[in-house]
Amino acid sequence: MAKRETVFVCGECGYESAKWMGQCVCGAWNSFTEERIRPADSAPSRLSGNNPRSAVAALSRKPVPLRDVTSGAADRIDTGIGELNRVLGGGLTKGTLTLIAGEPGIGKSTLILQAALHMAARGLTCLYVSGEESAEQIRMRADRLAASIPEGVLMLNETDVDAVCENVLSLRPDFLVIDSIQTMYTGELSSAAGGVSQIRACADVFMRIGKEYGIPVFIVAHVTKAGELAGPKVIEHLVDCVLAFSGERERDFRLLTASKNRFGTTSEVGAFDMREDGLAEITDLSGILLDSGGFGGGADDGGARKAEGTIVTGVYEGTRPLLMELQALTAHAGSGFPRRTALGVDGARLAMLLAVLEKKAGLYLGDSDVYVNIVGGLRPEGTAIDLACALAVWSSAKSVPIPYGTLAVGEIGLSGEIRSVRHTDRIAAEAAGLGFKTLILPAKNAEKTKPPKGLALVPVKSIQDAIAALMV
Ligand code: TYD
Ligand code: MG
Repeated sequence: MAKRETVFVCGECGYESAKWMGQCVCGAWNSFTEERIRPADSAPSRLSGNNPRSAVAALSRKPVPLRDVTSGAADRIDTGIGELNRVLGGGLTKGTLTLIAGEPGIGKSTLILQAALHMAARGLTCLYVSGEESAEQIRMRADRLAASIPEGVLMLNETDVDAVCENVLSLRPDFLVIDSIQTMYTGELSSAAGGVSQIRACADVFMRIGKEYGIPVFIVAHVTKAGELAGPKVIEHLVDCVLAFSGERERDFRLLTASKNRFGTTSEVGAFDMREDGLAEITDLSGILLDSGGFGGGADDGGARKAEGTIVTGVYEGTRPLLMELQALTAHAGSGFPRRTALGVDGARLAMLLAVLEKKAGLYLGDSDVYVNIVGGLRPEGTAIDLACALAVWSSAKSVPIPYGTLAVGEIGLSGEIRSVRHTDRIAAEAAGLGFKTLILPAKNAEKTKPPKGLALVPVKSIQDAIAALMV
């Protein structure tokens, strides 16, 4: 029988199959691509000899006492971009591999080049490897970003991993950027660049070289419109940090979030404004998130304006409070099977809140479609948004508008009780600063929260209490 020369690989999970399959074992549809298998006889010859990859591969390791290992936590490298530092957990850590994923054109290259320019201005050497754009194109981008370009930013137009390694070994940069992983290839595999096995093999080399020489490495990955990591998903387990850069191309607002971080939390968010001269950091994120809905500065109108199904909620993400607008819409279901659509809110959590509303507040939604959305594309973790979510649904279903200037935080339990959440004092202070008038919060939290000037606290113990508070 002829020896197989190709294999089909799933772009979602990396599963390999001899035959093409419509659906993978991981559940993904249409995710298989055909890739050539490495010719067995050529492999050993590439691994021996003096190619730079084998130099890395051949390093032998010996156990060391844990006590003698330096923690490295102290030597975080400041990227010069506060919001990026924040999401990374306080700056770059030496020898770590970070994957930054986002749709083409969202601004990944801009963000990283900006960081490289900042670092080089402080005397560090940054090697920017681009397989996508020419050095001239990157120079044009750099001209928009910085008045003068420091000499420490080095450009390399290369897609061959071995050649990149050679340069890294001779240059020993302080920061290495690979833009993008989909353009890189290793001669060890005969499949085309961008395929699952190539991505996996290349990322592995960059990880080893980064760890060996203590170089922080950033790998750029393009993702499809649907938002999944596609090919790059297979290297998520390999990297230390997975960042997602998102936003809408029509708007200038950009969000940087971490879905994995071995050196910090994943609940930090970084916010940017895409301007003519690059990405500007947004430190007043609550103000921006609320502004689009007319809340920013508009909250101070004595409660004259009201909106159905819209309320503001607050969460404490990472190290700062964030206020955001939450909207709900209920509509008569056209079919016997009502829709539940949740954007930014966990679907299972929404189902639970609807059940509590039915049982404890007499709101039956079995024949209604329910849509819930957090404006601005945020996906807050935790349960602090429960109360706002339930109140927004209730407001839409009952056509009772919620006055502007009102926000609600609190977790809802299965018996309709409102449970306390963390850092309500910080949320209250942020809300008062933005001109909010009323904060509906768990009674337990209210006991310990000093009301800031201009903000009335409305303590509630149950979902019924909270609804009653809206009716006044
Ligand atoms: P880019 O960083 O090339 O995106 P990615 O690497 O994610 O594909 O950004 C591309 C877009 O950003 C492009 O449409 C132009 C815009 N842009 C600005 O608005 N201001 C700037 O200063 C720069 C450099 C780019
Ligand atoms: Mg790019």
